[in-house]
Amino acid sequence: MRQLNIFHTYLALLILLQCTLTSAQSSAPAPTPSGPTNITKILEKAGQYTVLIRLLKSTQLEDQINTQLNNSNQGITVFAPTDNAFSSLKPGTLNSLSDQQKVQLIQFHVVPTFLSTSQFQTVSNPLRTQAGNSNDGEFPLNVTTSGNQVNITTGIVNATVANTVYTDNQLAVYQVDKVLLPLGIFAPKAPAPAPEPAKTKGKGAAAADNPSSGDTADTSGTQNCSLSNFKTALIGAVILFATFFT
Ligand SMILES: *[C@@H]1O[C@H](CO)[C@@H](O)[C@H](O)[C@H]1NC(C)=O
Ligand SMILES: *[C@@H]1O[C@H](CO)[C@@H](O)[C@H](O)[C@H]1NC(C)=O
Ligand SMILES: *[C@@H]1O[C@H](CO)[C@@H](O)[C@H](O)[C@H]1NC(C)=O
Ligand SMILES: *[C@@H]1O[C@H](CO)[C@@H](O)[C@H](O)[C@H]1NC(C)=O
Ligand SMILES: *[C@@H]1O[C@H](CO)[C@@H](O)[C@H](O)[C@H]1NC(C)=O
Ligand SMILES: *[C@@H]1O[C@H](CO)[C@@H](O)[C@H](O)[C@H]1NC(C)=O
Repeated sequence: MRQLNIFHTYLALLILLQCTLTSAQSSAPAPTPSGPTNITKILEKAGQYTVLIRLLKSTQLEDQINTQLNNSNQGITVFAPTDNAFSSLKPGTLNSLSDQQKVQLIQFHVVPTFLSTSQFQTVSNPLRTQAGNSNDGEFPLNVTTSGNQVNITTGIVNATVANTVYTDNQLAVYQVDKVLLPLGIFAPKAPAPAPEPAKTKGKGAAAADNPSSGDTADTSGTQNCSLSNFKTALIGAVILFATFFT
């Protein structure tokens, strides 16, 4: 009970001091997760990540990330490609990967430290991901910023960080508009074994083609770090005091 209170206080302080999503939706009550942080739950709530969720499950990285979140004090940053990002891959791209490569692909989207948006300005390239080998040309992931815009290049694709899906000072989830394809798997030198254009579309992919308009609204919130945003501060303060008196 005491721990829960501390956690609530911590959450409230975060809301108070840190910039959070200040879209219309964010005036909703502060998240009160029941139990430990759950990456799948966060992505499910955000919508438009069905393919990523499926891959997190099939590679069992879901459990690994959740365990890491529970045990690490470094935190974790996840780059989350949308369903649209996955469906704009060349047909058969995922099917052509071995299980091991699928694991590496998803690990490449996970940085084993918490990175706030402002920290992107100062990270040194290449960023080390869970896929490892950032220096030998296999899994380099470089960040470039200009103002608030954050771009990522892998040597194969250039992606843009479109949105903050979730942040709590321990876990940050950022929406990216492309699947981050690592050189180690997709380097052009390897004569790609031309994959059969898969006609069968999984249920998840089919659902991905029909993002509901509700989802779109849900993710349109932009990060706003203005401390002059009194509304956010006020909500944080209310929660903080509510925590102390309950
Ligand atoms: C995380 O959430 C998902 C979906 O809500 C659920 O299936 C899974 O069991 C949860 N994992 C943990 C460790 O609570
Ligand atoms: C989280 O860590 C605590 C203490 O280290 C442990 O008791 C608990 O079982 C862990 N929970 C999960 C879901 O791993
Ligand atoms: C990021 O990418 C966009 C789109 O490709 C481009 O217009 C912009 O100049 C890039 N910004 C940086 C900082 O690289
Ligand atoms: C990433 O940045 C490092 C250091 O600046 C550079 O040596 C490397 O070529 C870059 N790689 C890519 C894929 O942009
Ligand atoms: C990514 O951006 C770099 C530098 O802006 C450019 O040289 C390269 O062609 C781009 N790659 C792709 C795949 O768009
Ligand atoms: C952030 O919020 C401030 C005050 O509410 C507003 O003036 C500003 O335009 C917002 N900036 C963005 C990028 O939404």
